[in-house]
Amino acid sequence: MILVTGATGKVGSEAVRLLAAAHHPTRALVRDPARAPGGDVDIVTGDFDRRDTLDAAMRDVDTVLLVSPAVPAQEMAVIDSALDHGVRHIVKITSKASADSPVERRRGQARIEEHLTASGMAYTLLRSNAYLQNLLVMAPMVRQTRSFVMSAGDGQVGMIDARDVAATAAAIATAPSGHAGRAYWLTGPDLLTYDDVAKELAAALGHPVEYRRLSPDEHRAVMVRAGVPEAVAKSNAEAFGLIAQGDAAWLSDDVESLTGTRPRSLHTFVADHLNAFA
Ligand SMILES: NC(=O)c1ccc[n+]([C@@H]2O[C@H](COP(=O)([O-])OP(=O)(O)OC[C@H]3O[C@@H](n4cnc5c(N)ncnc54)[C@H](OP(=O)(O)O)[C@@H]3O)[C@@H](O)[C@H]2O)c1
Repeated sequence: MILVTGATGKVGSEAVRLLAAAHHPTRALVRDPARAPGGDVDIVTGDFDRRDTLDAAMRDVDTVLLVSPAVPAQEMAVIDSALDHGVRHIVKITSKASADSPVERRRGQARIEEHLTASGMAYTLLRSNAYLQNLLVMAPMVRQTRSFVMSAGDGQVGMIDARDVAATAAAIATAPSGHAGRAYWLTGPDLLTYDDVAKELAAALGHPVEYRRLSPDEHRAVMVRAGVPEAVAKSNAEAFGLIAQGDAAWLSDDVESLTGTRPRSLHTFVADHLNAFA
């Protein structure tokens, strides 16, 4: 049995769909069963902050596909529960991470990874570049103003479709033993700037779309005004500032070598989500 956490999120929901379609015994952990993914899956209601619900979800589980907003105490609770219930392998969705990163979220990921490594359980780390799905946050502004704001300067990003992160995670979770102790770096097929994104949106929408450059501080303020929690807006702005300096300008072939399928391009992502931007 594979347990997928964060099963209503971008990666978790698609991973559950793929695992169920391939008829793998799959359990989806969700906070709200009304939003649970469909298909032939076992749904459990749980919360990372409630250890009893995590323990109940671990019954008969061999492998956990660990997706969450990466709050260290929460993911460490999942790891501890998995260890106590005989789970053999954890596939963790993560990002670039280091204990001395200027980005708080990456320091948190490093703490979680250290906890996972120390647990003695087998694990695989999937370090993804930025998700194309993040562009959907800008969709209302694109609809209303034919422009979007960003503080990534001219930095290139190996943006990846979260559906390809999910496909890679599902492939590993169904046959994890050959991937124990490995870390993979997941990207899309192209290095993209936000000017490239504006051009792709303009071509698909049939009208100009402008990328308006902000400083990280200006961008943080815009995100907070739009309702993003202060701490998340701060981490996002820090990450975009690093992108402007070339921090996300990396590509790898890991998705294709692990799934046998080339990852989706920006062009495909925009075509699949055009209604959101139009
Ligand atoms: N976004 C990116 O560009 C990117 C890039 C690289 C790596 N990553 C990594 O990907 C991971 C997930 O990020 P994401 O953006 O994909 O997240 P996401 O789509 O927002 O998914 C988060 C999931 O966690 C669930 N969740 C939140 N709090 C919970 C709680 N207390 N108990 C149980 N479930 C809870 C959410 O459920 P609800 O639906 O109930 O809220 C949702 O299903 C993180 O480790 C992040 O660092 C993200």
